[in-house]
Amino acid sequence: MYNTAIYRLRHIENDKGCLTIAESKNDVPFDIKRVYTITNVPTEEKRGFHAHSRLHQILICLSGSLKIFLDNGNETKTILLDKPYEGLYIGPMIWREMYDFESNTALMVLASDYYNEDEYIRDYDEFLKKANKLYL
Ligand code: TYD
Repeated sequence: MYNTAIYRLRHIENDKGCLTIAESKNDVPFDIKRVYTITNVPTEEKRGFHAHSRLHQILICLSGSLKIFLDNGNETKTILLDKPYEGLYIGPMIWREMYDFESNTALMVLASDYYNEDEYIRDYDEFLKKANKLYL
């Protein structure tokens, strides 16, 4: 889907465990300016419900699993994230909803910029209007 991709990150896996590497530009397609984590999400909880107008992100599920519903205004897709070496790239103008968090799931997000509420689109109708302009 446009502006989304699964990156299989470099990783070294052996009987000592799994080490995964994400270097700016070498492994992910942007300079990483911010890292945040999402943990302790109750199983019934849903998060996200927004798009970003400019931000690029890579989501990595360090442990546990979750599902991510993606919508570019034209097509939708659901991804299961459950491997620490898989990075889900989400570019600008992709609506996302995160749900079905297994207990003890740890999600790490690499972001291309600092937190800026102004570039969030939290209203789905507004998202659709802006997204549909991209396809006209
Ligand atoms: P939000 O992005 O809405 O979380 P989610 O999509 O996972 O439901 O962020 C939740 C709150 O945290 C919101 O008040 C903004 C704040 N926040 C920051 O202050 N800095 C950050 O880097 C992030 C990601 C969120």
